[in-house]
Amino acid sequence: MTKITNICCIGAGYVGGPTMAVIAQKCPEITVNVVDINEQRIADWNDENMDNLPIYEPGLKEVVEEARGRNLFFSTEIDKCIDEAQMIFISVNTPTKTYGKGKGMAADLKYIELCTRQIARVSKDDKIVIEKSTLPVRTAQVVRSILDNIGSDVNFHILSNPEFLAEGTAIDDLHNADRMLIGGDTSTDEGRAAMEALVDVYAHWLPKDRLLKTNVWSSELSKLTANAFLAQRISSINALSALCEKTEADIDEVARAIGSDSRIGPKFLKSSVGFGGSCFQKDILNLVYICRSQGLQEVADYWEQVIIINDYQKRRFAENIINKLYNTVSGKKIAFMGWAFKKDTNDTRETAAMYVASHLLDDRAEIHVYDPKVKPEQVYSDLIYLTESQYHDITEEQIRELVHVHSDPYEAANNAHAVAVLTEWDEFTTYDWKKLFKGMIKPAFIFDGRNILDHTELKNLGWNVYAIGKGN
Ligand code: UDX
Ligand code: UDX
Repeated sequence: MTKITNICCIGAGYVGGPTMAVIAQKCPEITVNVVDINEQRIADWNDENMDNLPIYEPGLKEVVEEARGRNLFFSTEIDKCIDEAQMIFISVNTPTKTYGKGKGMAADLKYIELCTRQIARVSKDDKIVIEKSTLPVRTAQVVRSILDNIGSDVNFHILSNPEFLAEGTAIDDLHNADRMLIGGDTSTDEGRAAMEALVDVYAHWLPKDRLLKTNVWSSELSKLTANAFLAQRISSINALSALCEKTEADIDEVARAIGSDSRIGPKFLKSSVGFGGSCFQKDILNLVYICRSQGLQEVADYWEQVIIINDYQKRRFAENIINKLYNTVSGKKIAFMGWAFKKDTNDTRETAAMYVASHLLDDRAEIHVYDPKVKPEQVYSDLIYLTESQYHDITEEQIRELVHVHSDPYEAANNAHAVAVLTEWDEFTTYDWKKLFKGMIKPAFIFDGRNILDHTELKNLGWNVYAIGKGN
């Protein structure tokens, strides 16, 4: 296998963008072209003003600044970049199907298939094709069957190289990955050579013992199950938070106690309003779908329960707000602190905030949102999408009337009946909660969906405080 000097990545999203930026930064002799069908997204990646990059991610703009124009390029010339590359990453989105067979469960692979067909059509010489998107197990077979049947003598080698970066810490996760999985055909010399070519790329900055080589199916399944295990821990702690609220045990104390058992470990035990993000729900639904289609009913039910508890947690949080506000929020102003699915990102996919908001909107609450990074139109489009895709008794017009997005948190909370903390942004802990209290309608309620505030202090200031997994 020749040394890699040219890489193309299809999909300039949350995964493709940061991953390719770091590869370009660490491998200055490799030309990296990131291509996308979305012209606006590419224009944003090329924006002179680094604050306009399409993705907010700590440390990203410094990496892009270093490599862009040197060996990192963002473009819409997909065919040309595929043709020039020896190695092609597919990093397009694979949302849950919203139609037809597997609706609501299976991953929609239409973009993967389109990209694969495009690679097949354009390629004139041998290529290594890498699945970067998270995919159902055995997708590589689909990719192979398309590429192998194009009737040319071009050789394609297919690898699975799932991404484990978490948003908000993507650059650090890429620079210091715990492991990099490289799945390939370990049974042939060509397959092993393709894997080595990818190992060489990552070995520019990662120690070789963190580059794990597996067969393709193990690699595909490991990505799905890594996310399922992480989500399962959150649902486990969230399930216990409900019991804590009934028994006056404290969920943070319980998490600390169990997490200090080195066999369990402290991470991913933070009780919350529910997990969000583009991956957890989608990947578990996928796992459930695959298990069901293989006749593994019990296994499917086991993993599905992780999602059921997560839905329960979001609904429980919203219902608690309604109950505590004397069983009605109709016409009452509720201030949302945070809309992103976690701190340090502008991503709102599957954010718990939109589910909580839609429950409250069903009851005709007025929602006033403040988030340091999410743009106003994003809030509206999330709610409109959600209320259209699930049954909610509200129109777009009503959403635009009842939901307001603010650029100042004090303004969002002014004359509100309740504040709800939906995202764990650090800045929320630095606010003047005495000043916020003054502006509120009394009695003033606060619902801390992330357990980040000082509840004793808030109570002393006069707030009625409700938090996850804390008895009152
Ligand atoms: C990720 C991962 O790649 C996937 O594994 C994970 O399961 C979900 O999300 P992400 O980078 O977060 O994808 O998605 P997104 O930010 O939506 O980016 C995908 C990009 O691919 C978009 O910019 C879209 O325009 C582009 N795209 C999609 C193409 O360029 N061509 C297509 O045919 C389809
Ligand atoms: C996740 C995986 O961590 C990453 O490895 C994979 O590549 C993509 O999916 P991401 O979705 O970006 O990353 O964020 P993550 O930090 O895992 O958080 C997911 C959700 O769980 C967020 O809503 C977060 O707030 C929530 N969470 C996380 C908790 O509620 N409690 C915790 O203890 C940890």
